Amino acid sequence: MEKKLITAIYPGSFDPITLGHLDILKRASTLFDKVIIAIAINSEKKPLFSKKTRLKMIKDVTSNIPNIEVDNFTGLLVDYAKNKNAEVIIRGIRALSDYEYEFNMALINRSLEESITTTFLVAHQNYTHLSSSLVREVAGLGGDVSNLVPKNVIEELKRKLDAND
Ligand code: COA
Repeated sequence: MEKKLITAIYPGSFDPITLGHLDILKRASTLFDKVIIAIAINSEKKPLFSKKTRLKMIKDVTSNIPNIEVDNFTGLLVDYAKNKNAEVIIRGIRALSDYEYEFNMALINRSLEESITTTFLVAHQNYTHLSSSLVREVAGLGGDVSNLVPKNVIEELKRKLDAND
């Protein structure tokens, strides 16, 4: 019998991608045949980084992981997942406080599409305090974010902040 290949979607805003996201992504890539990291484009949010820059930053840091694809989507996550023939949605849990929101989101997604299963991966303990907005705030105030984000993100943050000077 042919082995069934499983595709998982790792969705988020990734504004910008952090070492915490990267840790989840690397773990996911060892569990599933293909992982699509999908940037959610929400017209109501005003991100720091454009879709193009977020895609580029993620592509750069994941280029050495063969089973990862980088993409973006608008609209419902489950519709996007179905379109990509993905059966799994991955979400990272940093602390118990993440769980309530994530639990509700998983239930909503399941009520919208029964065939797609949300899987929670536990974020690395070094990154439980980490979020993209924290990175944006610390970098904006001139703080060191080198232990929070990949190198290429530091460079993009610098470029962005210099441009806004
Ligand atoms: N390490 C570090 N930080 C992490 C992390 C990890 N492992 N996992 C999440 N975070 C942080 C993010 O950096 C982000 O921080 P910020 O809010 O300070 O910027 C925060 O946790 C939220 O995470 P993110 O993964 O970006 O989630 P989100 O809430 O922005 O994304 C979507 C949620 C996009 C998955 C969800 O809104 C969605 O599916 N939208 C599509 C529309 C839809 O289908 N809606 C119905 C389903 S609810």
